[in-house]
Amino acid sequence: MMQKKHSARAAFAAGSFQRALLRWYDAARRDLPWRAKPGERVDPYRVWLSEIMLQQTTVKAVIPYFEAFTRRWPTVEALAAASRDDVLAAWAGLGYYSRARNLHACAQALAERGFPADEEGLRALPGVGAYTSAAIAAIAFNLPAAVVDGNVERVLARVFAIETPLPAAKAELRKLAAELTPESRPGDYAQAMMDLGAGLCSPRTPSCLMCPVRAFCAAAGTGDAERFPLRAAKAARPTRRGEAFVIVRGGCILLRRRADKGLLGGMMEVPMSEWVVDDVVASTEAVRPKRGRAKADAAGKAFDLRTDAAVSGIGSQANKVAWRQARTVQHTFTHFHLELRVFAADANADPSAAAVFSGEWAALDDLAAFALPSVMKKAVASGLEALGLPMQPTR
Ligand code: ADE
Repeated sequence: MMQKKHSARAAFAAGSFQRALLRWYDAARRDLPWRAKPGERVDPYRVWLSEIMLQQTTVKAVIPYFEAFTRRWPTVEALAAASRDDVLAAWAGLGYYSRARNLHACAQALAERGFPADEEGLRALPGVGAYTSAAIAAIAFNLPAAVVDGNVERVLARVFAIETPLPAAKAELRKLAAELTPESRPGDYAQAMMDLGAGLCSPRTPSCLMCPVRAFCAAAGTGDAERFPLRAAKAARPTRRGEAFVIVRGGCILLRRRADKGLLGGMMEVPMSEWVVDDVVASTEAVRPKRGRAKADAAGKAFDLRTDAAVSGIGSQANKVAWRQARTVQHTFTHFHLELRVFAADANADPSAAAVFSGEWAALDDLAAFALPSVMKKAVASGLEALGLPMQPTR
């Protein structure tokens, strides 16, 4: 069996596959703002910036950010000279914020030392892993690096009808990708594989009849392309819960900065409690009985707002303001769902209470200047709604 599989692959007409794919790419390639037009010189800065933005993020979501960044910072030197806060604020909403911190650090290294023009040198840069270094090497420097993202994995799993489920199949897919990467036009080949995976070879409804490499595809041959790639069952995402506090005063809102390390590191937030999984709440209750979760509130949860607000670092006088319960907001991160109950208060009503709040008072009509991630924007919008204040669009 193993022998048969091997010989089928050995007989695979790699050259014909590459030519068919590249012919299709020349006719049907997507026009994307970071792509050099035929005959245009490739700008490694634009390739690098786009690849960092495209990590775990869709092309559609990235385009407006890419355009805003390159308009504001047209060169890597300009980006390196920007303040980290400005870069984080411009990144707000794109998610996975360690990318923005690494982007800025990387821009400074690149502005000083120039772009390494090989995969190994690129791999040593902050925020540049195996996939990104291969993508930059192939697209910006036309090196035959094997570029393997989720789309490419899907295409290859179908072409070779790989029965091993992901993630165990990764090594096998990577090896196939390396074997199939051409010496000629590797950058176009990589982007052609991406375009094929993003379009015709889509996860649920592949358009095999229109596919330029249908003749080479084992899964299309048996009519079950959508069965590939196989996946091992994923662990369910747990739900964490917490409370967020929206406090306004004279056209401003109270924000604070999150610690540099960890989730949403270095970004701004409204004051809030820890986020805990329900069974963790139950177990911490024994050691923190004063948190007062014994009392049932309208939502049927054990909760005492005054002590929670104080615990959340808003200030010991938090109980002096009149809190309004706002709409609960939800957000899904990679490894968990978050449910935030939002409470809102207008501190104008009690100036002595306002004085005890610590943090940064941010103008509500200039929130775009602050690095507010999407989950925090949701909390702010909910709190402002409860206070009858409009949320200004931030992008
Ligand atoms: N996804 C990641 N990199 C990409 C690129 N260069 N073009 C299109 N989609 C991508």
